[in-house]
Amino acid sequence: MTRPIPNAVPCLRGNEWQYLKECLDSNWVSSVGPFVDRFERELAGWLGVRYGVATVNGTAALHVALLVAGVEAGDEVLVPALTFVATANAVRYCGAVPVFMDSEPRTWTVDPQKVADFLTRECDVRDGRVVNRTTGRRVRALLPVHLYGHPADLDPLLELAARFPLALVEDAAEALGASYKGRRVGAHGSVGCLSFNGNKIITTGGGGMILTDDEALARRARSLTTQARDEGPEWIHREVGFNYRLTNLQAALGVAQLEQLEGFVAEKRETARVYAEALAALGGAEPLGEAPWATSSFWMSSTLLDPARYGDARALIARANAEGIQLRPLWRPLHRQPVFAGQQAYRIEVADHLYARGVSLPCSVGITPEERLRVLAFLAAAGDRPSGR
Ligand SMILES: Cc1ncc(COP(=O)(O)O)c(C=O)c1O
Repeated sequence: MTRPIPNAVPCLRGNEWQYLKECLDSNWVSSVGPFVDRFERELAGWLGVRYGVATVNGTAALHVALLVAGVEAGDEVLVPALTFVATANAVRYCGAVPVFMDSEPRTWTVDPQKVADFLTRECDVRDGRVVNRTTGRRVRALLPVHLYGHPADLDPLLELAARFPLALVEDAAEALGASYKGRRVGAHGSVGCLSFNGNKIITTGGGGMILTDDEALARRARSLTTQARDEGPEWIHREVGFNYRLTNLQAALGVAQLEQLEGFVAEKRETARVYAEALAALGGAEPLGEAPWATSSFWMSSTLLDPARYGDARALIARANAEGIQLRPLWRPLHRQPVFAGQQAYRIEVADHLYARGVSLPCSVGITPEERLRVLAFLAAAGDRPSGR
């Protein structure tokens, strides 16, 4: 039996053991410790932002980022339909409501033109408040997602955020290492968020980070993630906070992983390049590439497949998985999720098209050339016999 090829698994080949041992030897295992400080400082520095606040996962980072950006219960946040559910769940944790936006076909990220159309045609601005005419609710923030490692087109979104005005929070959970016009993602909006879940570019087992240049926002994020306790020896709490801090053990993994990040991104990019070249030769495939203004981290190597050549994407995924090649469907658009039934979705067409045809190919850091060839041989055979028979 040939070895299964997973979709994306961690690569732990640096100083992980050594740093974990340092935690155990020094007794610093919980939610404060030198590795937490170091991870926050080094990662924020690498991204070019002043502050990093480490959290227990990326979803918690998004939740607190939205709160510090000013999102309140009853507000609305504009969220791409094509994203992982955590993006919209974090909005709901604030008591706010997501309004789903379409993707643009080249980058699969939120379409700034449709966001602009929604804000100008469907909303009123009253006393500096943006109000959705259909629901009567205040629209408070834009939450673009740098999907599958590709940056969203931030300049027009930042321009809209400044004009209306709205907060802009970046969900960079999938895109550590990507850049927009030369500046790393997560560093453009008022707040950015990362995830270090097991399948992300670097992992801490589970973990996340809030990024900001704003000292007041960073201080509030740090407070909210640590039960909103006042500084000083007493336990004084003026608002409801959360127990969202990353542990020193997890941060030790993070520091070791961060040392390898640039090599990891290079490997991800190489895998995407190899697949794109081979898929161009096979035909009937449109891999997610790179816009001229973008450097993608290629967290996923994803591609659209023409059903006329490859058959139904879901049937293809099932056959690949049966052969030990872990293909994945794209995120099911959130306006199609039972949990968000009835939520407003604005002119969504592209996201549905991408979902119907898209698959993500195995692309772990450390995937071997032979494994990539097996994936491509499977696709070549599938293209010759779309029904699988
Ligand atoms: C786009 C997006 N946002 C948020 C998250 C949440 O991160 P976490 O799993 O660390 O909570 C993820 C991934 O898991 C994601 O893909």
